[in-house]
Amino acid sequence: MAPMADAFSAASIADPMIPRVARVVKRRREIADVVTLEIEGGAFDFAPGQFNMLTAFGVGEAAISVSGDPANSARLVHTIRAVGAVSRALTELHVGEPIGLRGPFGRGWPMQEAEGSDVIVVAGGLGLAPLRPALYRLFAEREKYGRILLLFGARSPADILFRDELEAWRGRLDIEVVATVDHARGDWRGNVGVVTTLLSRAQFSASNALAMLCGPEIMMRFVANALLERGVAQERVYLSMERNMKCAIGWCGHCQFGPVFICRDGPVFPYSQLRGLIAKKEI
Ligand SMILES: Cc1cc2nc3c(=O)[nH]c(=O)nc-3n(C[C@H](O)[C@H](O)[C@H](O)COP(=O)(O)OP(=O)(O)OC[C@H]3O[C@@H](n4cnc5c(N)ncnc54)[C@H](O)[C@@H]3O)c2cc1C
Ligand code: FES
Repeated sequence: MAPMADAFSAASIADPMIPRVARVVKRRREIADVVTLEIEGGAFDFAPGQFNMLTAFGVGEAAISVSGDPANSARLVHTIRAVGAVSRALTELHVGEPIGLRGPFGRGWPMQEAEGSDVIVVAGGLGLAPLRPALYRLFAEREKYGRILLLFGARSPADILFRDELEAWRGRLDIEVVATVDHARGDWRGNVGVVTTLLSRAQFSASNALAMLCGPEIMMRFVANALLERGVAQERVYLSMERNMKCAIGWCGHCQFGPVFICRDGPVFPYSQLRGLIAKKEI
């Protein structure tokens, strides 16, 4: 009889609703309620901005973006905030334990369209996780892009995600990395204020810029509008949306957002497609 993992892998080729079984090979606590899991169990090609449905067996499934390097297809990396039963169970998995995986799903960041442009990456809180694969790709193919700006906002210094990496990136001479926190006390010597305040000082060519935004919807709306005011075209401002998901393949309608399904048509959309929808609370 085939081992269980092989049987699941073979089945998932035929049925996109059946998870493959992978294994946690590394676990790292990033900040108080956020854990990064590294997973192995097959080849995992994905595009920056895509997500997987991860299963905590016996608890349930949740949509989680890939947060690792797209150049490393042997190991999948996900960064998860414990907000409810499934995400908490995922963050409590230990090295060696099985984890279910369906995906990758969705349309990711417009890496090709960004070529030749100044690229403005704006992340709020955990929004840095879905953007990290795009950053790895931008850095790996640095010569293809104009200026690269990473503007990152967190609630407080204790909420800064991937801090070591941010500091290493800030040391590079060919990208600009600026962080801010909403509020700080004591030993914080950096910027204080919402991430939009960084945008007013950022230097880029608005007529040849492309922006990638991920974070709370209200943050993305303010940043998108500020970019439009600076002259960036709304078709060149991209944001990643989240809604509760079940199937992740366009069958169930759970993730419907106006006329689009976030799982199938997104999660990354140009602002021009969402502009009339994103401000409406009931959608
Ligand atoms: C495309 C996509 C990518 C995602 N990427 C990540 C990621 O990289 N890391 C991560 O930690 N989370 C990510 N999420 C969110 C994650 O899927 C939810 O937090 C998770 O499903 C919550 O499930 P739960 O059972 O733990 O909590 P639940 O009990 O279902 O919910 C707990 C609380 O979170 C709210 N909630 C649940 N799902 C969502 C959602 N999708 N958006 C906003 N609020 C929600 C609920 O309303 C409730 O207030 C992503 C979601 C989507 C759709
Ligand atoms: S989650 Fe089922 S249609 Fe998107």
